[in-house]
Amino acid sequence: MLIYVAEKNEIHPSAIKLLKDNGHRLLFSLKNENYKNIEVIFIRTYTKLDKKLLNSFVNLKYILRAGAGIDNIDIQEVQRRNIKIITSPGSNANSVAEFVVGIMIFLIKNINEQSARLHKGEWRDKSLMGDDLNGKVLGLVGCGAVGKLLVKKLHGFEVNFLGYDPYLDDVTLKDFGIEKVSLQNLLKKSDIISLHLPLTPETANMFALKEFKKMKKNVIFINTSRGKLVNDKDLIYALNKKIIAKAAVDVFESEPIINKKFLSVKNLFLTPHIAAFTTNSNLEMSLRAAQNFISSL
Ligand SMILES: NC(=O)c1ccc[n+]([C@@H]2O[C@H](COP(=O)([O-])OP(=O)(O)OC[C@H]3O[C@@H](n4cnc5c(N)ncnc54)[C@H](O)[C@@H]3O)[C@@H](O)[C@H]2O)c1
Repeated sequence: MLIYVAEKNEIHPSAIKLLKDNGHRLLFSLKNENYKNIEVIFIRTYTKLDKKLLNSFVNLKYILRAGAGIDNIDIQEVQRRNIKIITSPGSNANSVAEFVVGIMIFLIKNINEQSARLHKGEWRDKSLMGDDLNGKVLGLVGCGAVGKLLVKKLHGFEVNFLGYDPYLDDVTLKDFGIEKVSLQNLLKKSDIISLHLPLTPETANMFALKEFKKMKKNVIFINTSRGKLVNDKDLIYALNKKIIAKAAVDVFESEPIINKKFLSVKNLFLTPHIAAFTTNSNLEMSLRAAQNFISSL
């Protein structure tokens, strides 16, 4: 098949090699006359396959997405045209789970603030005394590949897990050591809340001021899923007014140019969409998408 690799620098060379070895022809840039011949497009996060762009690929049969989220694809249009989407579910879950463990420890112990003080020549500050994860309640919103792996990695820390995931039953969650609760209970009881759910019409803007007001005052709120799950303005307000204690945000409504108002919020820890930005994930996401495509043919 003729495959257009839309995000050449983001797709691992071993996936490119695998596709070539299996007889597929690959293009890395497009001239006008090529659009109509493309049968497969290989993307990662930053290609927005909206209706207009999809319409230029009149013979498109497959979309390969290195990774799990498909919120950058116009699903209605894809379904209407019967285009198949092949992803690599779970391929970056380990990286994200490890990242969240790191962020939780970093924030609960105020490592960044204490380090910043010492860089200014000031010794530790008692008002910044940290805490332990041991005995804390972690609320997981979304208990799929990342949520479950995070729980597995944290068992040694003796953390208690609450989960809100309307698509998983309580028995499945219990098997992973997670107590299934309503969203309201999760917001009320968690010391740390971490989002691990997809961006869909149902989940967009799911976290706004109303939700932040229901959380514990000293909660740590972590979003490594998608920026649009959270109302930026309300998160900034909740942090500035100390309605919630701290947050860590890895994903933004617009990337790479993010809402500038985030930059001056002191109790907000920002990272540039790096939860799965690791050598291992980079390989796994691309390679598994290519393998899944080949085995689907
Ligand atoms: N920051 C990054 O680099 C990075 C990397 C990988 C994934 N992600 C994001 O993390 C998300 C989770 O990844 P995953 O691999 O665990 O996905 P997954 O599909 O395995 O799990 C998602 C879970 O969310 C649940 N869910 C769906 N709608 C929900 C709702 N309304 N409320 C609560 N739960 C709901 C699903 O039932 C599922 O169990 C992805 O959708 C993606 O947006 C970000």
